[in-house]
Amino acid sequence: MDKLLIDGGVPLHGEVHISGAKNAALPLMAASLLAPGMHTFSNIPRLRDIRTMLRLLEHMGAVCEDEARLAIDTRHIHTLEAPYELVKTMRASVLVLGPLVARYGEAKVSLPGGCAIGARPINLHLKGLEQMGAQVQLEHGYVVARADRLKGASIFLDQVTVTGTENLMMAAALARGTTTLYNAAKEPEVAALAEYLSRMGACIEGVGSDTITVRGVDDLTASHFTVIPDRIEAATYMVAAGITNGHLKLVHCRPEHLGAVTEKLKAAGLVIEIHGETVEVRGNGRIVSVGVKTRPFPGFPTDMQAQFMSLMALGDATSVIVEQIFENRFMHVLELKRMGADIELEGRTAVVKGVAKLSGAPVMATDLRASASLVLAGLAAEGTTEVHRIYHLDRGYETIEHKLAAVGARIRRVRE
Ligand code: EPZ
Repeated sequence: MDKLLIDGGVPLHGEVHISGAKNAALPLMAASLLAPGMHTFSNIPRLRDIRTMLRLLEHMGAVCEDEARLAIDTRHIHTLEAPYELVKTMRASVLVLGPLVARYGEAKVSLPGGCAIGARPINLHLKGLEQMGAQVQLEHGYVVARADRLKGASIFLDQVTVTGTENLMMAAALARGTTTLYNAAKEPEVAALAEYLSRMGACIEGVGSDTITVRGVDDLTASHFTVIPDRIEAATYMVAAGITNGHLKLVHCRPEHLGAVTEKLKAAGLVIEIHGETVEVRGNGRIVSVGVKTRPFPGFPTDMQAQFMSLMALGDATSVIVEQIFENRFMHVLELKRMGADIELEGRTAVVKGVAKLSGAPVMATDLRASASLVLAGLAAEGTTEVHRIYHLDRGYETIEHKLAAVGARIRRVRE
C-alpha cells in the first residue's frame, strides 16, 4: 500500500486544472447499458472508481477502450450480474441496477454492504423499482430484480438520494408511461446524467428541481458526452489555498456548482474571485471560525465536510459542524486530533475549537473525503505528516500529489 509524505507549512501558489467529476462519470458509464451501441465520453478522470466501473461493465460484456476519450460498446451484453467482489469495492456499482432492469428486464446486483461513513442502504432504489412493477428479491446477498417491462409510476423519495434519483431516472427512461420522481436530488451530477439521457432520446423534465418527470420511450441511442468538472475536487483545492495561506487559480471549474462552498469559505476569510470557468482563491492570513450544516445540493455538500473541518481546526474561535446526511462521517476527527486539533463530537455535531497550529504525524485514511482532509491538514501542519492507506484517496482525486507538488507542496508518494 502507498502512503503520502507531506512536509507542511508551504503556501501553495499556481494553477490547478480540475478533472472530470467522478460522481458524474459513474452514472454516465452505467447509462451506456440502456442503449446497445458505442457510447463515447470525454473528460473522464483517471481514478480507481472509474477503473472499477469499467471492469464491471466488461464483466457484463461491454467492450471498453479508455484512451484520449472513453468508448463503451454495449452491443454484446451477456451477463446481467454485478458480482460481490466488484461491488464491495465500489458502492456506486448499484447504478447498473436500473439500466439492466429497464433494458434487459433482469438484474442481479450484489448488495453494496456497509461502508465507513454509514449503513448507506438502497431501500429507496428498490422501493422505486417495485413501484415501477419490478419483482425484487434479496437472495444470498444479492438483489435480484425482474420486470417484463417497467411501467411509469409516481415515486416519492422520502429521503433525497443522489444515486437513487439517478437509478430511477435511468429505469424510467425505458418504462412504459410516465414516471414522476418527487423529492428528487438536484445535484449537478444528476443534471448531467439527465442531459446525456436526453441526448440518447429520453424525455425528461424538471431536472434541477425536486420533481423530475420522465416519459418512457421504447429505445435509446448511444451518444457522446463530456463529463462536467469535479466540484468537490475544486472545493478541496479551494480549501488548500486557504489552509496554506496561499493563492491558487483553479481552471476548468463550474463556479455555479460551488455556490454554497464559495459563500462559506468567504465567511471563513478566504478571498475568492470568479472569472468565467476560473476560480481564484487566496488566504488572507487569518481563518475565521464559522459553522456549517451539510445539506443536499444546493446546500453545503457532505463531501466537503471533512475538508472544511481541517480548515476550521486552525480557525480563530469555535466552529460547529453538523453532518446531516450520513450517520458516521467523522472518521477523520480522531486523526485530526492526533495532529493537535481540538474537536469534540456529540452525535452528528462536531465542535471545533481553532488552535494556533497543527503538528505533522502519521495518520490513517478511512474513506475518500477523510483522506483529503488529512492531506489538507498535513499541508498546513508543522513537520511531516504521513497519510497511510491512500488507496481511499486514489478513488476520487486524480494524481493529487502531482497537482499539489506543481503548486509548491512538499509532498511525495512512497510505496509502503
Ligand atoms: C452520492 O452517494 C455520492 N456518490 C456520495 O459521494 C455523496 O456523499 C452522496 O451522494 C451525498 O451527496 C456518488 O454519487 C457515486 P445518497 P449516494 O443516496 O447516492 C440515505 C464521495 O465522496 N439513503 O444521496 O450513495 C443514505 O444512507 C461519495 O464521492 C437511504 O436511506 O448517497 C444517506 O444517509 C461518498 N436509502 C442519504 O440517504 C436509500 O435507498 C443520502 O444518500 C438511499 C440513500
